[in-house]
Amino acid sequence: MTELCKLGQEIENCRACKLADRRTSAVPGEGNEHAELMFIGEAPGENEDRQGRPFVGAAGKFLDELLTLINLSRQDVYIANIIKCRPPGNRDPLPDEILACKPWLDRQIKIIQPRIIITLGRFSMALFVPGKPIGKCHGAPVSKNGTLYFPMYHPAAALHQQSLREVIKADMQKLPGLLESLNREKALNMRRDEPPVQQLNLF
Ligand code: URA
Repeated sequence: MTELCKLGQEIENCRACKLADRRTSAVPGEGNEHAELMFIGEAPGENEDRQGRPFVGAAGKFLDELLTLINLSRQDVYIANIIKCRPPGNRDPLPDEILACKPWLDRQIKIIQPRIIITLGRFSMALFVPGKPIGKCHGAPVSKNGTLYFPMYHPAAALHQQSLREVIKADMQKLPGLLESLNREKALNMRRDEPPVQQLNLF
């Protein structure tokens, strides 16, 4: 069993806040343990609570569409939420719930070590890059303590406001180029760190 699966089992048994009393299932997250891109949403909704999987409702359908747009699938990335249990009636997560759940997310990030963390929606963004409204900083990468964050609107926002659909798609389409430049930079840095090739005197 992978480290991430073991962590998932721990999350399923979590009783750190009162959301545990009302859940059908906790929703740890799913995807590739070695993902370069990690998407972090807000909280499970009704469908997610029933199935124990993230983003399986209407917003998830749009997220799948967004992944297809950049030639990726759920198996290529990791998808999680800032809180792992459904808030009653899908209300906003409370500060104490976010705080109680944060150690799980920290451990997931530590295992996966994604190249880019994509925050979906204002709650997820506020947890990592607080202080600015999402309308001002979506689609612009933020580097903080050695991690690159990429804030995006929550896919559900496009369900309520059709005009955001194209904005979200345009932001998503920035990710492959961003990842490519990060990987190019990493390769350059690795080459710089290599010991110089020994000059062989063959003649
Ligand atoms: N919205 C979220 O933020 N997460 C889910 O898993 C589903 C809907």
